[in-house]
Amino acid sequence: MMIGITGTPGCGKTAAAKLLQKLGHPVLDLKTTVGPFVLEHDDASGSDVVDVDAWAEAFPYTEGFVEGTFAHYLPCDKIVILRCRPDVLRERLAPRGYSEEKIRENAEAEALDVILIETVDSFASEQIYEIDTTSTDSESVVRSILSFAKGESPASFGSLDWSEYITDVI
Ligand SMILES: Nc1ncnc2c1ncn2[C@@H]1O[C@H](COP(=O)(O)OP(=O)(O)O)[C@@H](O)[C@H]1O
Ligand SMILES: [Mg+2]
Repeated sequence: MMIGITGTPGCGKTAAAKLLQKLGHPVLDLKTTVGPFVLEHDDASGSDVVDVDAWAEAFPYTEGFVEGTFAHYLPCDKIVILRCRPDVLRERLAPRGYSEEKIRENAEAEALDVILIETVDSFASEQIYEIDTTSTDSESVVRSILSFAKGESPASFGSLDWSEYITDVI
């Protein structure tokens, strides 16, 4: 099975991936696969602009977990979306050296459910599992991921509402 772990930057994908690996589960960091599909480097945002459609088209089916902000563009069997309350997300992104503009963009995307909406667009409800990492440590997040992966926890998403934080971040 290919299980995607997606989420806005700062939601805890890499932290969860490290723990999964420690427990012996294969995890592919999708950042390491986009190199050939980088169209340009955007100096203003400090991010690479990736041809996501071409990357997803060329991506070989991979057994295990695949982790990254683009995971929901892949034909995963199941997809986990990590979430984080936008004000806490800002605090998590602050030490990364991102510009204020980039932090604002990410907090705004999280408040507006951008990744959830994109995911719901291309997956069936039974494939989607959303986890709020705001006040849940990575060990518990990983337990939830494994439980969903094994089919022990049913799909679940759509219960979070960050709309009251939109005015904070826009
Ligand atoms: N469940 C969590 N609870 C509290 N802090 C977390 C949690 N997961 C990640 N973090 C912290 O948030 C920051 C971003 O986490 P990271 O795993 O790099 O996010 P991502 O890979 O989604 O961008 C890091 O400082 C990390 O230690
Ligand atoms: Mg990461």
